[in-house]
Amino acid sequence: MITLTKAARLRGELTVPGDKSVSHRSVMFGSIARGTTEITGFLQGADCLSTIGCFSAMGVEIENDGGRVIVHGRGLRGLRQPDRVLDCGNSGTTTRLISGILSGQNFCVTLTGDASIQKRPMKRIITPLRMMGADIVSINDNDCAPLRIQGKPLQGIHYQSPVASAQVKSALLLAGLYAEGETQVTEPALSRNHTELMLRYFGAEVDSRDATASIRPADELYGRKIHVPGDISSAAYFIAAGLLVPDAQLLIRNVGINPTRDGILRVCRMMGADLTLLNESHDSAEPVADLLVRSSSLKGCTIEGALIPTLIDELPVIAVMACFARGETLIRDAAELKVKESNRIRVMTENLTAMGADVTETDDGMIIRGGRPLHGASVPCHMDHRIAMSFAVAALAAEGETVIQDSECVNISYPGFFEELEKIR
Ligand code: S3P
Repeated sequence: MITLTKAARLRGELTVPGDKSVSHRSVMFGSIARGTTEITGFLQGADCLSTIGCFSAMGVEIENDGGRVIVHGRGLRGLRQPDRVLDCGNSGTTTRLISGILSGQNFCVTLTGDASIQKRPMKRIITPLRMMGADIVSINDNDCAPLRIQGKPLQGIHYQSPVASAQVKSALLLAGLYAEGETQVTEPALSRNHTELMLRYFGAEVDSRDATASIRPADELYGRKIHVPGDISSAAYFIAAGLLVPDAQLLIRNVGINPTRDGILRVCRMMGADLTLLNESHDSAEPVADLLVRSSSLKGCTIEGALIPTLIDELPVIAVMACFARGETLIRDAAELKVKESNRIRVMTENLTAMGADVTETDDGMIIRGGRPLHGASVPCHMDHRIAMSFAVAALAAEGETVIQDSECVNISYPGFFEELEKIR
């Protein structure tokens, strides 16, 4: 555990680690592409290392020197049956996306993960993958991992997804690479589109229109060079810290600002934050910018509807920001938060309340009445990396000492997070 105290000022420049979603996809797509994929800026977090472990176990040679990752792709039909159970660790992205790929192979695999993964809902991919002809079963018959997948010939489907989930969409698009005919996924609101952008970059025929993505079966994908942008979900903690600490100015370099991920920036604007985008450019298939953040006096706002999927992972830290804003912040349409690494609505409400905030849990979000001063507390993070980092930010703006329990879980997406925070104090 880690103990943090209030910060009087924050100053400096930093570069956050590579985007988690893009890092996973670069290894997955590189593995099933022909030729070499060279990845710089890869996130060396536990989740993305789980993805490397799974594809290595299926015969893909992956060199990782801690900086650059080189994937020697085996082509669309070159994966080998692993001689062990695939371990997806804590990673929902690994579990769900790999299931789409495995459904179209000609071998049988069992995959599982840690205690948290074995509780996360997999029915959302099992149902549509079965509609495509996949043979996929939840071994304990509880719609969770471990999953057994026997590769089968697949047919494309047009699927109306009940959830806006990039993991569901991506699982189906990846299965669609191996299917007969077109596969189409329509979501209630557009979720992150890294799969669509990167598969197109690798040579697949992918079409995107509003909240519908479609893919044609491919003969091959082709390895590419990828520079992974900084993760906006990791930058979010420093954006929030820069806004909340009184004498603060932070420059966060090279952050991915894909419009399907930039909801936090839109919320910052709604809340009246002093946040400027500099040096906007394009890197591989993704837009990036530097973010300049200064201390701000925030006001509450309503966060709902199509905005939710664009900031789903940032809602915990947005809830922290809302505690320091004038007036009420309403978060709704965010029931998905209940099935993340923890029940993030419950855990945020409990921990913020323990720090003195005025927060009400609702069925699909939270109501936060800002302006009450927060005080330190000892907060359990339920091994959820985004909870741990959100409370590190709350600690910087709260009176007294805050103890972040199970703080080591930040390694899932941000190894070195606490060291980076120390550097700018
Ligand atoms: C991710 C999609 C989101 C997000 C997760 C990463 C991805 O999950 O919360 O951290 O890389 O596709 P859902 O697709 O379940 O919303």
